[in-house]
Amino acid sequence: MKAIVVGSGGREHALAWKLLKSPNITEVVCIPGNGGTALLPGCRNVAMAVTEAEGIARCALVNNMAFVVVGPEQPLAEGLADRLSDQGIKVFGPNRDGAQIEASKAWAKDLMAEANVPTAAAATFTEAADAIAYVRQQGTQTQDAQNQDAQNQSEQNQSAPIVVKADGLAAGKGVTVAMTAEDAIAAVEAAFSGRFGAAGERVVIEEFLEGQEVSVLAVTDGQTIRPLLPAQDHKQIGEGDTGPNTGGMGAYSPTPLMPAALLDRVQKEVLDPTLDALKARGIDYRGVLYAGLIITPAGDPKVIEFNCRFGDPETQVVLPLLETSLDEIVLACCEQRLADLPPFKWQAAASACVVMAAKGYPGAYKKGLSIALNDAESDDTVVFHAGTRVSEGQLKSTGGRVLGVSAIAPNFQAALDKAYRAIDKIDFPDSYYRRDIGHRIKGFTALKESEPKSVNEGGNKD
Ligand code: AMP
Ligand code: GLY
Repeated sequence: MKAIVVGSGGREHALAWKLLKSPNITEVVCIPGNGGTALLPGCRNVAMAVTEAEGIARCALVNNMAFVVVGPEQPLAEGLADRLSDQGIKVFGPNRDGAQIEASKAWAKDLMAEANVPTAAAATFTEAADAIAYVRQQGTQTQDAQNQDAQNQSEQNQSAPIVVKADGLAAGKGVTVAMTAEDAIAAVEAAFSGRFGAAGERVVIEEFLEGQEVSVLAVTDGQTIRPLLPAQDHKQIGEGDTGPNTGGMGAYSPTPLMPAALLDRVQKEVLDPTLDALKARGIDYRGVLYAGLIITPAGDPKVIEFNCRFGDPETQVVLPLLETSLDEIVLACCEQRLADLPPFKWQAAASACVVMAAKGYPGAYKKGLSIALNDAESDDTVVFHAGTRVSEGQLKSTGGRVLGVSAIAPNFQAALDKAYRAIDKIDFPDSYYRRDIGHRIKGFTALKESEPKSVNEGGNKD
């Protein structure tokens, strides 16, 4: 059977690659795909925008495609899944109503409150003045509490960090972890000034949660929900998790920060009640529900966001470990028979991905840079393309994040060593990559003995 993957990033390359590992899949069409999917045997790129619903539907019908997997959130939020399923096409990805779980942070917060899902305390505002008054009030409350603590009086000039989020999709730039009330107020003003368009018409102000972030990508057919292996990504550009946020500079899975017992709690406290609340709203959610969690210093999982899609670069580390055929999982979700599927099989190994970006990213960077992969790839090492194209037989960069080098091995150190050895073989002179991917789990034993360290040292994607 043949299938469509919608999108053009490393996540979509990994989806196409994994689908093509299945003996059931004869061809994958990537819309629009990238240089990596163009070079992938069995894969064909079709140049079309990811939001071109009618064109995608036509492509699916004319080519008798078994299903469509949608990578990015934007087309889902615009109703791509609705348009495809209206025409009888099987689609893995929620409809427009379901996609609100990512497309509106206020909507997601309401749903979480309804479902009693643990998350940061938050309030939603439609007026800048009210939001600013709330920020000031939060700061005052924090200071009052702190002032009662006589031991730390001299350090009490600042309010605790507070998180300001534009309600809608803002290409990852809508969240500010503000270290001071002034920064929070500036973020509120920026959102209401129209900087994020309609996405900033409402603003969510949220309690700052301290702890390590873990991504749990779960698949659901609307009735049953099952987590994939938990992963962690590195959002910040600089080593030691410093500097501005990016689309993700590396990832690894399965993170030891989420042992089976904790994943069980996530199933019971987060995934099941969220799916129940979606059902209660009449939403038939089929696809990935991605829970972005913080594991608090007390060891409790709390949701900081939901996404309605696979994570990037988490997909590039999770799928290489999956032994079950991806098409079986996708079809079971589309046909609402996930409960009948045996437990997913996973390779007992560690998986890591290091992202190579164009120098300057996430600020200004050059495109059209030449890349030669040489013999970087091997059985356990795959180079997933995030922003490339093939031009006259030559691989060129087309974006900020360009490649994701994924490797699996019996343990994390070996997987990371393999990924870095592969990077050494790649000719990409104007690249930048972090050399410390996985550093948080290298210190895992030490962290377990003390308190998990905060990884949110401020900064947004600007
Ligand atoms: P989001 O788009 O909601 O995932 O937010 C982007 C990033 O901001 C997250 O990955 C976290 O690093 C950080 N963040 C968001 N909300 C919170 C919170 N309540 N407490 C601490 N950090 C947060
Ligand atoms: N890795 C973060 C995301 O996919 O949103």
